[in-house]
Amino acid sequence: MSQAEVILPEDLAQEEIPILDLGPFLAGEEGALERLATELRHAQEDVGFYFIVNHGVPPELIARSQKNLRRFFALPDDVKRAMPSYVPPKSTIYVSSTVNENTKPDLNEMLRIVRERPADHPAIVAGLKSHGPNHWPDEDLLPGWKEEMLEYYQAMEDLGRSMLPLYARALDMPADHFDGMFDDPVWTTRNQHYPAVEAEDNQFGIAPHRDHGFLTLLPVVDVPGLQIRTADDRWLSVDNIEGAIIVNTGEFLNRWTNGRFMATPHRVLPPQKDRYSLAFFYNPSWDAVADPLPTCVSEDNPARFKPVRFQDYRDWYLTQNYLHEGGEIRPEPPSIEESELPETI
Ligand SMILES: [Fe+2]
Repeated sequence: MSQAEVILPEDLAQEEIPILDLGPFLAGEEGALERLATELRHAQEDVGFYFIVNHGVPPELIARSQKNLRRFFALPDDVKRAMPSYVPPKSTIYVSSTVNENTKPDLNEMLRIVRERPADHPAIVAGLKSHGPNHWPDEDLLPGWKEEMLEYYQAMEDLGRSMLPLYARALDMPADHFDGMFDDPVWTTRNQHYPAVEAEDNQFGIAPHRDHGFLTLLPVVDVPGLQIRTADDRWLSVDNIEGAIIVNTGEFLNRWTNGRFMATPHRVLPPQKDRYSLAFFYNPSWDAVADPLPTCVSEDNPARFKPVRFQDYRDWYLTQNYLHEGGEIRPEPPSIEESELPETI
């Protein structure tokens, strides 16, 4: 008999976070949708995070985008700070977190890009938040940057879209249930740089939080830092699986599933060397409503959440992050009846 193996936390992470192979499903193999939907259901009910491999996003495209992040963050400080979509290090405190009382500013710097829309798009004309227009780095400073990043974001949007039937079937709904609710997805991004710096007590690369949207897609990188909180309250390091994308659920989908799909807390510790990461938040169209799905409620398990429109939820979430009232109970987002948004735009 061999000696008992010592399981390091890193090994544990590999074991505890499921790996889903999208290959057969994306190739349209018979039975693959149902098989994968079952795996997805377990991943989302038990862990809240899972890796995807054979997801169809070319590794060169991800690598080029990572390189573009380095190019952007290497720009002079005053150039970056002149951009309205740039968030410098130590400038935000994640106060909307339901996980930790965050009191110190996060150490990461970040560029936010949202779905690119034409200037006359009704949502931009109506002034809807998180719909653009984007502020891109100057083409003279970073030639090709915008075009290359748009190609990457489009690939991530396509990937998110292709996964919708999986989510629908994992929730025992018809495969096309989410179709039509993602026609103009309010995807947003955090293009991030976590510098290798010392943290104070209760200070992080990004502080403990849950994501707030539908699902998050994050290509894994070879610099460790991301940790997820397990159901039994341990912080588990996420390892690099070459070419994989890690996926998790946000609070909007958590509400939609009446709490069934976990929105798992996570954080990023300051890394040993600079870490660059591309977080893509795939969300439905502004007017999609999360009303707990019929397959997630029963007489014994009544709906725990009021129906909320995505844009109301997003606006409410952004507002929370600017409130500095530590210790106060987080209010609920406005339901459709209480919404101040128009019916149509
Ligand atoms: Fe997050």
